[in-house]
Amino acid sequence: MTKLKDFQNEIQADLLTSLQVDHASSRVGQAMTYSLANGGKRVRPLLLLATIHSFGQDWQLGLGPAAAIEYIHTYSLIHDDLPAMDDDDYRRGQLANHKKFDEATAILAGDALLTAAFSKILAVNCLDSQAKLALCQDLSHYAGLAGMIGGQEADIEAEGIALQLEALKDIHRKKTGALMAFALVAGGRVCQQDQAVLAMLRDFAYCYGLAYQIQNDLQEVLWTDEKRGKKNAGDQEAGKNTYPGILGTDQALVALDQEIDKCQDILAKIEASVPTFSGQLLAEFITYLKI
Ligand code: IPE
Ligand code: IPE
Ligand code: MG
Ligand code: MG
Repeated sequence: MTKLKDFQNEIQADLLTSLQVDHASSRVGQAMTYSLANGGKRVRPLLLLATIHSFGQDWQLGLGPAAAIEYIHTYSLIHDDLPAMDDDDYRRGQLANHKKFDEATAILAGDALLTAAFSKILAVNCLDSQAKLALCQDLSHYAGLAGMIGGQEADIEAEGIALQLEALKDIHRKKTGALMAFALVAGGRVCQQDQAVLAMLRDFAYCYGLAYQIQNDLQEVLWTDEKRGKKNAGDQEAGKNTYPGILGTDQALVALDQEIDKCQDILAKIEASVPTFSGQLLAEFITYLKI
């Protein structure tokens, strides 16, 4: 836990200082800082740094890509809350970006965070050009149409349509799992792991991401608005497909447990094939999946 606290403090400091936006002259700059600063859990950058630490390497090597993935995540949430998407007025207990500012500003703030992510990686001094190129390529893949954007598209298209569980799983994997996959794969790349290990890290991330989204869906059913920091009509009213909606709450809890077991199995597999790897720190993240 103390290790993760260290990571969190460094991520927090680095996220805002490296953006260098002119707040005095730019409302978009203010909107970027507003959403970056207002209390996310930083799960994706934490996973990235934890992965590097798990291979026994210096986690500070990952600070650039860690900030980049949080920029992308923050932009995805700003756009996710817009009226054209989930139409949520609140995020993390505070006004959503387009409510605090306005829709045009929120769209531009998201766009600017997306582009800033790539320069953040390219500006890193402690990684060689080949590593930075691979990280930019990965980020474009996992955040793009084959990943998060594709998941968001499918999520919106499926509103009001009753999906089979497999189709919902695919949406969750893309909209939530893909950014987690970037985090784990980027951690592996920084540690110069081979393709077989990167594939296991990616598998872990997709299981973790699916579990994370099932937990998010369950929070909507089991938690109060206050605890969730949201005040929307809810997934059901918005016609969203969710695990508890399709399976019922009890079976959704079982499905969450199954993904947790898979995460643990994959960590054991990586430990068995990479002598320098310890799954201990990543296992801590699994404990946060319980509801
Ligand atoms: C919210 O993600 C959206 C999902 C993909 C479930 P997080 O719960 O990681 O968001 P913050 O950044 O901690 O608020
Ligand atoms: C958000 O998913 C996922 C992305 C922004 C990629 P949801 O719409 O299910 O998450 P919340 O409930 O708004 O946090
Ligand atoms: Mg959404
Ligand atoms: Mg949403």
